[in-house]
Amino acid sequence: MHTRNRSVPERLVSDGNPWALHLRTAVRAVREAGRIQRRSFHAVHTVTFKGLTDLVTEVDHACEQAVVRILRKAFPDHDLLLEETRVPETGSPYQWVVDPLDGTTNYTHRYPHFCCSVALRHRGGTVLGAVLDPYRDELFTTVRGRGAYLNKDRIRVSRETRLIRSLVATGFPYDLRTAADDNLQSFCKVVPEVRSIRRSGCAALDLCYLASGRLDGYWAVKLAPWDAAAGVLLVQEAGGRVTDRKGGRNTQGPQGLVASNRRIHGKLMALLQRG
Ligand code: IPD
Ligand code: CA
Ligand code: CA
Repeated sequence: MHTRNRSVPERLVSDGNPWALHLRTAVRAVREAGRIQRRSFHAVHTVTFKGLTDLVTEVDHACEQAVVRILRKAFPDHDLLLEETRVPETGSPYQWVVDPLDGTTNYTHRYPHFCCSVALRHRGGTVLGAVLDPYRDELFTTVRGRGAYLNKDRIRVSRETRLIRSLVATGFPYDLRTAADDNLQSFCKVVPEVRSIRRSGCAALDLCYLASGRLDGYWAVKLAPWDAAAGVLLVQEAGGRVTDRKGGRNTQGPQGLVASNRRIHGKLMALLQRG
């Protein structure tokens, strides 16, 4: 694990950007979570179970507490939507959406692919996002209308138009043993039509990889707001497209989520909808 590139992209925090302070705070929060994740990576973790395969460790909780401390200190009146703790809403127009450790299963197995994801919603719309992969020291940041960045570099989605040359990713819900849609049929439909499929176990980084052109498409049958909020804005600000599986805008509903470089969107959707 190495460190480089400590600062936030200038364009995202330059004068006149009303979200500069908010983004700096989000970056401080994901970096603090990243320090905790790095420090504890090789330790034996205390695992508790939210479901048969849905794990949570002491590191998820420690990261969440660290993120909350930083957000609360800077913005005591803002609401918080956290994965591990329910916090009553106060009716603030600002809501921070936090996945303290996305990729918990990877982390528990010391499989180095995980992150912390923080987004801010204002009046329901996501205005910024910060996602840090502390293992590779890759910080993905975005502010609505100002582009998406990997460390200091602007990122854009790929230009691929052909499915058979596309690398796509997906994930499986924890309740796949009982869910009406376990994603296995979709997986089988997509596999022969694309160059290959990845299943990384970290939805927020899947969306970041799409935003940075490493992937061409991504779909999920169901994601929580904390998995998707920052990553969806990153994809959109990098020029990509995100819809539900019917082409609508409710990407956190039962229709799941399809995200792409825009150019393969229709083809990927058609494939997923095929009977
Ligand atoms: C999970 C991961 C996984 C996705 C699941 C998520 P967690 O989040 O992002 O890739 O397929 O739907 O719940 O539990 O590691 O924070
Ligand atoms: Ca997650
Ligand atoms: Ca999590």
